[in-house]
Amino acid sequence: MQTHQYDVVIVGAGGAGMRAALEASGRARTAVISKLYPTRSHTGAAQGGMCAALANVEEDNWEWHTFDTVKGGDYLVDQDAAEVMAKEAIDAVLDLEHMGLPFNRTPEGRIDQRRFGGHTRNHGEAAVRRACYAADRTGHMILQTLYQNCVKQNVEFYNEFYVLDLIVDHDLSAGHVPEGEEVNATGVVAYDLATGEIHVFQAKSIVFATGGAGKIFKTTSNAHTLTGDGMALALRRGFPLEDMEFFQFHPTGLAGLGILLSEAARGEGAILRNSEGERFMERYAPTIKDLAPRDIVARSMANEVREGRGCGPNKDYVLLDLTHLEPAHIDAKLPDITEFARTYLGVEPYTEPVPVYPTAHYAMGGIPTNIQAEVLRNDQDVVKGLYAAGECACVSVHGSNRLGTNSLLDINVFGKRAGRAAAEYALTAEFRELPEDPTASVVAELENMRSRPDGERVADLRKALQETMDRNAQVFRTAESLTEALDDVRALQKRYRNVSVQDKGRMFNTDLLEALELGFLLDIAEVTVVAAINRKESRGGHFREDFPKRDDVNYMKHTMIYRRPLAQDGEAAEVFDGSDEYFSHAEEFDDYQVVLGSKPVTVTRYQPMERKY
Ligand code: FUM
Repeated sequence: MQTHQYDVVIVGAGGAGMRAALEASGRARTAVISKLYPTRSHTGAAQGGMCAALANVEEDNWEWHTFDTVKGGDYLVDQDAAEVMAKEAIDAVLDLEHMGLPFNRTPEGRIDQRRFGGHTRNHGEAAVRRACYAADRTGHMILQTLYQNCVKQNVEFYNEFYVLDLIVDHDLSAGHVPEGEEVNATGVVAYDLATGEIHVFQAKSIVFATGGAGKIFKTTSNAHTLTGDGMALALRRGFPLEDMEFFQFHPTGLAGLGILLSEAARGEGAILRNSEGERFMERYAPTIKDLAPRDIVARSMANEVREGRGCGPNKDYVLLDLTHLEPAHIDAKLPDITEFARTYLGVEPYTEPVPVYPTAHYAMGGIPTNIQAEVLRNDQDVVKGLYAAGECACVSVHGSNRLGTNSLLDINVFGKRAGRAAAEYALTAEFRELPEDPTASVVAELENMRSRPDGERVADLRKALQETMDRNAQVFRTAESLTEALDDVRALQKRYRNVSVQDKGRMFNTDLLEALELGFLLDIAEVTVVAAINRKESRGGHFREDFPKRDDVNYMKHTMIYRRPLAQDGEAAEVFDGSDEYFSHAEEFDDYQVVLGSKPVTVTRYQPMERKY
């Protein structure tokens, strides 16, 4: 075992992690631990843009952006956080420009801006051009720019290191913290893929920027690495996850594959059509049509298919029509995604419409934080020295449905805030003592998996998980479908306890790491489904066919979901956080239960209204 000491340790080298690193490393001794080489992080797959009310091409302002974000999130957004994000968006874009990001330009040389779903002028009057972009490779450009600047600033990277545990001085999953006592994060345990060695990183501040968990679903735009690691580690340490029931399905995944085809296509004028050639979004969102927020477009598409107006031999997708756009315009603005259509579906977008269907894209929920990116351990108290930013976090700027281009913005604004706050805290704090052997549970788990001669196969369990999540917890949900998903997930969790790997070696053992990632996925799927069962209303990305209306009386609140120990009698141990809701896991396992609490939504300027587009 090797040990390291840093003021700040950042886990994850996507956009949020590297933006945090740029902010922290000038102030405090900082390391970034990443399970990938940084420029392979999933931020690189983000396509269409990063929004900011620059007003470079038409009138705009941050207040309209805030309103659109709040309305787009179906009023579950914390409005103080949305306001911070919309205001700081402008500097976030200019920071990137100054770092060298090659944004597309207007003829006058300003950063160009394009339309995107749910971004409007004057509170919904018409779509506005707010997304700054670099063709359809905006995330790729952001990632490269941030990495180059990290290299320039001598940020220390530990690449292909998998963080497998978070070290804290009070493990909340084992019980409550005595009244008045602090909870501190003190380090992380990581596994070096190349050697199989375990490393302990002691730190005064830790920033989680570990990305999403899209691989709980089969049809997803997410990379194989998006396995919810940071979220699951926080949950296992007894910290809550917030609003996990809200998962975004991006309308335009390549049909049958899920590969992302950017909303920028519709921003540039592409139109969704059903089997009758009808521009069906005119019926669902008469004002902004194809540029309605994603939850509405994805549901409308799924509804067209359900009502028999789908296309293709199985009538199971709709079409994205770009054929009226000039080929030169397509080549200049949408080069990558049109190439994806040619390569993966054999379709020529100049002349043929592209088959598309919703694909699991983004977790609105995650590790709860305040606007300084400090992690919350309940509905109000922070974990000292622990920060989170980006998709793994829930601040909550996206509420129940994120607007396109707000995620590249989120990682820059809250990545920067997290890096700064982590460094400032580290400058005032002391290193805290680590437990005697902080690696014990990780080492035992690894050895168990490696030594088990013949157990369950990772690929079989993962496939079964993804299939039940696609079948039962996708765009349309019911109590029945979600209960089936939960039963399946829990049966898989049981089987997972007997998982084994074929590669017994130490060097580059990706088999072993996939097994560990599957454990994270199962934990995230479990809380996603439990939270979805509990929320008996429809809001944003969470649509319950058995409760099709939004219910502000009973559900205008964030879900907080925790793991807690069982009481002696094996029943639900406690009523948590003053909430009278819990969802016991008692009959299934003997070591923990899943408990639900809530947190109020912060409302500043905008009272909830019916959401019409
Ligand atoms: O459609 C897209 O380009 C995706 C953007 C986003 O998720 O923000």
